[in-house]
Amino acid sequence: MSKNPFQQNHETMTMCELFKKFKRFKLFEPSLGVLGFFLVVFCVICCFFYLDYRAVAKGYAIPAQSERFLWLELNGSSSEIKRVEFLGEQGNDCNVFDGDWVWDEGYPLYQSKDCSFLDEGFRCTEYGRPDLFYTKWRWQPRRCNLPRFDGKVMLEKLRNKRLVFVGDSIGRNQWESFLCMLSSAVPNKDSIYEVNGSPITKHKGFLVFMFKDYNCTVEYYRAPFLVLQSRSPAGSPEKIKTTLKLDQMDWDSSRWRNADVLIFNTGHWWNYEKTIRGGCYFQVGTKVKMEMKVEQAYRKSIETVMRWIHNEVNVSKTQVFFRTFAPVHFRGGDWKSGGSCHLETLPGLRTSLVSSQTWGLVKVVGDVLATYSNTSLSTGLDILNVTQMTALRKDGHSSLYYLGPKSPAPLHRQDCSHWCLPGVPDAWNELLYALFLKHDNSRTLNSSVINNI
Ligand SMILES: *[C@@H]1O[C@H](CO)[C@@H](O)[C@H](O)[C@H]1NC(C)=O
Ligand SMILES: *[C@@H]1O[C@H](CO)[C@@H](O)[C@H](O)[C@H]1NC(C)=O
Ligand SMILES: *[C@@H]1O[C@H](CO)[C@@H](O)[C@H](O)[C@H]1NC(C)=O
Ligand SMILES: *[C@@H]1O[C@H](CO)[C@@H](O)[C@H](O)[C@H]1NC(C)=O
Ligand SMILES: *[C@@H]1O[C@H](CO)[C@@H](O)[C@H](O)[C@H]1NC(C)=O
Ligand SMILES: *[C@@H]1O[C@H](CO)[C@@H](O)[C@H](O)[C@H]1NC(C)=O
Repeated sequence: MSKNPFQQNHETMTMCELFKKFKRFKLFEPSLGVLGFFLVVFCVICCFFYLDYRAVAKGYAIPAQSERFLWLELNGSSSEIKRVEFLGEQGNDCNVFDGDWVWDEGYPLYQSKDCSFLDEGFRCTEYGRPDLFYTKWRWQPRRCNLPRFDGKVMLEKLRNKRLVFVGDSIGRNQWESFLCMLSSAVPNKDSIYEVNGSPITKHKGFLVFMFKDYNCTVEYYRAPFLVLQSRSPAGSPEKIKTTLKLDQMDWDSSRWRNADVLIFNTGHWWNYEKTIRGGCYFQVGTKVKMEMKVEQAYRKSIETVMRWIHNEVNVSKTQVFFRTFAPVHFRGGDWKSGGSCHLETLPGLRTSLVSSQTWGLVKVVGDVLATYSNTSLSTGLDILNVTQMTALRKDGHSSLYYLGPKSPAPLHRQDCSHWCLPGVPDAWNELLYALFLKHDNSRTLNSSVINNI
């Protein structure tokens, strides 16, 4: 075979020379084989694009936003996934807690500097956190699409209503996130205020924020155990300083009962350190149970909470949510022994491990709820099962930036429990929003069906 002039002069040929060669048709004769090869390759590429286009066109349910990320998925087969809308009828069976974190330039939903309702401890970026990656991840369920959070829609739904968060400081983290998400839809920030004029500070027992234009309140009650913590019975040994009455709800529970939306969480205080070590023992009836283990006490308390919801809360009126435990991410120790998370800037992989202890807490909630399987509770209570999705977000914690203007904290005193805002709790609230609307839809639908009969 004669030599291909294209190859021969490869090093030195200019575009002009190449063009001349084309003109003289000299290129063609010796290189028909090569051209044929290129033609075949061209056809194959065309076919590929055509087929791919059809696949995308079929997947019309995938909005433009997520389509971009299909290319980023590690798995070539992912473009075959057809996602339905969670709020549509086809979305009824979608498990919104099964999914992935996807990068989305449309996030975050608000800026911390525009939201006056945040503790300094959550304003990581304002107090020196150098990266903003942690604000850019959106939760994408695998089988369906969530509605994008719309504060106006939520506020309109909450008109003349009360939404109440109850739990520990991670619940407070979520509550503050929710305040910011809602308030970003309100132009006049002065129309949002704490009804007793209390400032946002960590020690307050409860805080009630009024959105005046909607006559709705968004409230937080600090109750890290949900059940009642009080003085030990008279005549107890001195080492018993307080007891957790595992069969009684917290004093404030009468204020929660009539809320329209009620979101519980508990878990971070159910450990030896925060109970028995500090002289806080467990009590059932009038008896202090000196031998009772924390796990057992936790189960009893969840039973009490579920019983209370079942007996005291009208779940036709009140939408009840129970948010599961949000994992911590201390590496190389815990909060008091120098554990850290400040170098984490990206979410973990799907296989990130959730400790068996953490799963234990989640399982108790599921087990106890299962005993109510054919009562109104099974339909009236939603589990916000955020444990798995949150386990992936080792990058989302306050780490060194939880001290406000005194940040950064010393390297050996990090906070890998709470979350920077905007951040991970926003995603929990988007799930809350989606489930709330889903309920609301089915109620409206049913009443309109009834009205039409
Ligand atoms: C890849 O695709 C398979 C089957 O389609 C699925 O089971 C798996 O979870 C996917 N992996 C990722 C990382 O998306
Ligand atoms: C405001 O909402 C409360 C319920 O949270 C209701 O009792 C009250 O009547 C409402 N006020 C007005 C002016 O609508
Ligand atoms: C529960 O709430 C529904 C809807 O608001 C109401 O119609 C019903 O009367 C309430 N039931 C009780 C026992 O208060
Ligand atoms: C929560 O989700 C995990 C998997 O992500 C599952 O194993 C667990 O059973 C779920 N728990 C509840 C109470 O729904
Ligand atoms: C639950 O359902 C089972 C059978 O379907 C029935 O025997 C049982 O009495 C029900 N329990 C309650 C509390 O309604
Ligand atoms: C609405 O109706 C469907 C069946 O018609 C029922 O399964 C569902 O529980 C109802 N929802 C509410 C909130 O009443």
